[in-house]
Amino acid sequence: MLMVTNSKTPAMLEGMRAASAIVSGVLEMIGAHVQPGVSTAHLDKLCHDYIVDHGGVPSCVGYHGYQHATCISVNHVVCHGVPGDKRLKDGDSLNIDVVAAYEGMHGDSSAMYFAGTPSIAARRLASVTQESLYLGILEIKPGATLGDVGAAIQAHAQKHGYSVVLDFCGHGIGAAMHEEPEVRHVGRRGLGVRLMPGMTFTIEPMLNAGGSDVRVLADKWTVVTKDRSLSAQWEHTVLVTNTGFEILTFRPNETETWSRFAAARVTAAP
Ligand code: MF3
Ligand code: CO
Repeated sequence: MLMVTNSKTPAMLEGMRAASAIVSGVLEMIGAHVQPGVSTAHLDKLCHDYIVDHGGVPSCVGYHGYQHATCISVNHVVCHGVPGDKRLKDGDSLNIDVVAAYEGMHGDSSAMYFAGTPSIAARRLASVTQESLYLGILEIKPGATLGDVGAAIQAHAQKHGYSVVLDFCGHGIGAAMHEEPEVRHVGRRGLGVRLMPGMTFTIEPMLNAGGSDVRVLADKWTVVTKDRSLSAQWEHTVLVTNTGFEILTFRPNETETWSRFAAARVTAAP
């Protein structure tokens, strides 16, 4: 039998659905705990315990020596922020990124949160970034390309005056947390990997209020904007179906946002 690159068997997909449900459950659960005065280490512990309590394995623990279940990226941190004793302040905006495994299959998603009351600028950057993720997802169907996905994200970011981070990408996901293909968040329509039913990958655009340049801190994990401008990220794990897509990590609590912004544009419902 000819195996299509990145394609998943039904059994593998069941594992990914279960892993993804745990991840979306974590991201729903943690929202109420994001408050001024709470440390990011505490948030990480709550996420870790939720994953284990629901029969999952926190995929990030032990990954290249990483010691936490989540990455928590606050304000000008772009991604891979390391949970620690630092406490959140009123107005902080943060991304919580969670990867869990179930029966050896992974699900990966992240969302934005605010401690207390965010600035209008922070709220707007987070919203436009989530919309860019949705617009990228809406491109997915057999025969479309990853260039179509990247182009949709890039156009929306640029329309709003934001830059797209080029140094970090989405990725195929399945039995490994990171697989082929690399999913860039910029692109040209019609170019790049052609999508086929059964492929699973993440889309995880990082948008900056300032320039797109980033820098890795001395801890070798934390990625920050070079100009210290605000950054935002949202991520989903998606499956290419026969007619379009399925968002494996979809959260019940994003139904309203999805309906308002994206559902009207869907030609093939997820
Ligand atoms: N979700 C992150 C990614 O896809 C996970 C980073 S791995 C970690 O890049 F070990 F740093 F958490
Ligand atoms: Co990812």
